Amino acid sequence: MAEHDFDVLIIGAGPGGYVAAIRAAQLGLKTACVESRATLGGTCLNVGCIPSKAMLHASEYFDAAANGSMASMGIDVTPKLNLDAMHGQRKDAVKQLTGGIEFLFKKSKVTWLKGLASFKDANTVEVDGKSYTAGEIVIATGSSVTQLPGVEIDNDKGVVVDSTGALELPKVPKTMVVIGGGVIGLELGSVWRRLGAEVTVVEYLDQLLPGMDDDIRKEAAKIFKKQGMELKLSTKVTGVSVRGKTATLTVEPAAGGDAETLKADCVLVAIGRKPNTEGLGLENIGLETNERGQIEVDGQFRTSVDGVRAIGDVVPGPMLAHKAEDEGIAVAEWIAGQIGIVNHDLIPGVVYTWPEIAGVGLTEAQAKEKGPIKVGKFPMLANSRAKTNHEPDGFVKVIAEAESDKVLGVWCIASVAGTMIAQATQAMEFGALSEDIAYTCHAHPTHSEAIKEAAMAVQGKPIHM
Ligand code: FAD
Ligand code: NAI
Repeated sequence: MAEHDFDVLIIGAGPGGYVAAIRAAQLGLKTACVESRATLGGTCLNVGCIPSKAMLHASEYFDAAANGSMASMGIDVTPKLNLDAMHGQRKDAVKQLTGGIEFLFKKSKVTWLKGLASFKDANTVEVDGKSYTAGEIVIATGSSVTQLPGVEIDNDKGVVVDSTGALELPKVPKTMVVIGGGVIGLELGSVWRRLGAEVTVVEYLDQLLPGMDDDIRKEAAKIFKKQGMELKLSTKVTGVSVRGKTATLTVEPAAGGDAETLKADCVLVAIGRKPNTEGLGLENIGLETNERGQIEVDGQFRTSVDGVRAIGDVVPGPMLAHKAEDEGIAVAEWIAGQIGIVNHDLIPGVVYTWPEIAGVGLTEAQAKEKGPIKVGKFPMLANSRAKTNHEPDGFVKVIAEAESDKVLGVWCIASVAGTMIAQATQAMEFGALSEDIAYTCHAHPTHSEAIKEAAMAVQGKPIHM
């Protein structure tokens, strides 16, 4: 009889956990994955990446019809919103993709243990009163919304909501205040702005999108303002009260000063996410979290407890689905005795607004701290495809080490920046010089030519500018 019920047991079936489970099974390990939701796929497929992109994509079409972009190409339409149908296609996308993971689990013989898992000891977890043992246990429990002290989120009521509530609003609010000018605030704020809401974003810092390159942050603010979003930067929310269907927010300058009030039909709280470790029984195995609530791991995703590893949003690093997925593959490979690799220096980040905002590697400020650099920029206005498509906003910026010419960072704002950033990431993974990109033949006319031209600008010689 086998020593354990399973070779590997994974807690959580988000992009980290489900990918780890499939990879472990592919590598011949007897694998179980515990998930308490009714469907697989975690935050990303159920209430994150996928439903938000479904609403972003649909609202982008609505906006193009409503704001005259279609008319400028000779298509005269007056759009009429059918919000129920828009939500319907969102739910369909989620259903198909979460069902797809269930199919993949069956196909690769991963056992789905339904319920909440908690540790009894380092090799045993309890799920709904039953115990299961495994040689290795991987914590992939993800993250959940950070609450704003004193502000109660009630997604059912639809007045003060988090991202999950904001994906499901049954009608377009007339006014919406978004607390937090990060990725969620800008993506979901964009959805409802496009569908007709007056959106105000209140951000504590002096710019949107912390962590991104400063030029990108400034340009993004300009573009969102042009689109009609009101931005209140360097402003903090000190309280939210709800009376009936209206919320009143008290805000004041971050540096202190006179308070003012804002009224809104809907308030979206989007001030970050925190790792899910509560109720996991970490105290039973002596595993502690760091000051940010994360589980610390080494290069093989091993925690301080033998036989227990962790991946995804619950460990340090960007809270992104593709980072969790790559860690899922790598952790399974380490467990199977192989070498699993994730290059944490090159995790691209994409904000799926219009235009999209993307970056990989170091910001200009980070690169400068390491030594002398060269920077090349190219505006989308001068890119023939973007110009032809009536998409003039944005630019590409390539940052290279001055002496070696090695590319250290690439940043873009462009309609398809999320797709463009893949080539930059791949080039950097291969240790590209900006000269390598500048002398790589790019198909014409494509938005990606802007990356080539920005690399040429690093050399001091773009053609179309
Ligand atoms: P999760 O996806 O959070 O999955 C963890 C799973 O573990 C959950 O299903 C949970 O139910 C389960 N679980 C937790 N505790 C237990 C337990 N004790 N027992 C059993 N099961 C448990 N990232 C991107 O890269 N691109 C995007 O476009 C993007 N859009 C997003 C939009 C929104 C609105 C949000 C909220 C997030 C978005 N993200 C995006 C972030 C992305 O969703 C996360 O980075 C990703 O889901 C993390 O994967 P994970 O596997 O670590 O955890
Ligand atoms: P975030 O960290 O991106 O942004 C939160 C913002 O809120 C920050 O700008 C912060 O300064 C601000 N803030 C914090 N407290 C505040 C306060 N009291 N008042 C005003 N502003 C305040 O977090 P967000 O947007 O909630 O997203 C959470 C995570 O989900 C992110 O880490 C992101 O990686 C992930 N995500 C990724 C997406 C993508 O890849 N496209 C899409 C959506 C989410």
